[in-house]
Amino acid sequence: MSHDTTAINKLMDKFDGHHSVWLFGYGSLIFKADFPYIERRPALIRDWSRRFWQGSHDHRGTAAAPGRVTTLIPQAGAICEGMAYLVTPEEFAHLDYREKNGYLRLSTDILFEDGSSVEGLVYIATADNAAFLGHAPELDIARQIASSSGPSGHNSDYLLDLAAALRSLGKDDAHVFEIERHLKRLLKDRQ
Ligand code: BEZ
Repeated sequence: MSHDTTAINKLMDKFDGHHSVWLFGYGSLIFKADFPYIERRPALIRDWSRRFWQGSHDHRGTAAAPGRVTTLIPQAGAICEGMAYLVTPEEFAHLDYREKNGYLRLSTDILFEDGSSVEGLVYIATADNAAFLGHAPELDIARQIASSSGPSGHNSDYLLDLAAALRSLGKDDAHVFEIERHLKRLLKDRQ
């Protein structure tokens, strides 16, 4: 699969003709929605786990020293909690470009806290994309994040902002919070 996924995402026509579409956010979309939206609601999707397994060459790292950002890994029985945004389909051109380094749009069931659900979209970077880094111990991930930065800022800010946003929503994520714990110690040791 090529690095740039914009052309593939343009072919995704499932919601063509819809006035609005729900988009599930599990990473930077939770703390930074840089697009207009009609409504946003805490939500979850099933059978996916959030993992810092995707390399970032264009936002939180560089080609020479990629950072690590989130993607979703299939895991039966798992729950990924995040934030869903109701957007007009025009927003996807911007998001396809912003997330062109490996992320593909996938349709998914999104569940809201009141028990209702809707079919919507999520961006996922699968294991076959060129920027995928895969599993590493949380301490190693924290070390890589501590030393990475790119055009969108320090990789550590991405991790710390995500952890803070999850905490303020009252959501738990053992993977994210363990990386946060290691990262805070590494950053403190540097001072
Ligand atoms: C998100 O925050 O949900 C997101 C992560 C990667 C690509 C696009 C969106």
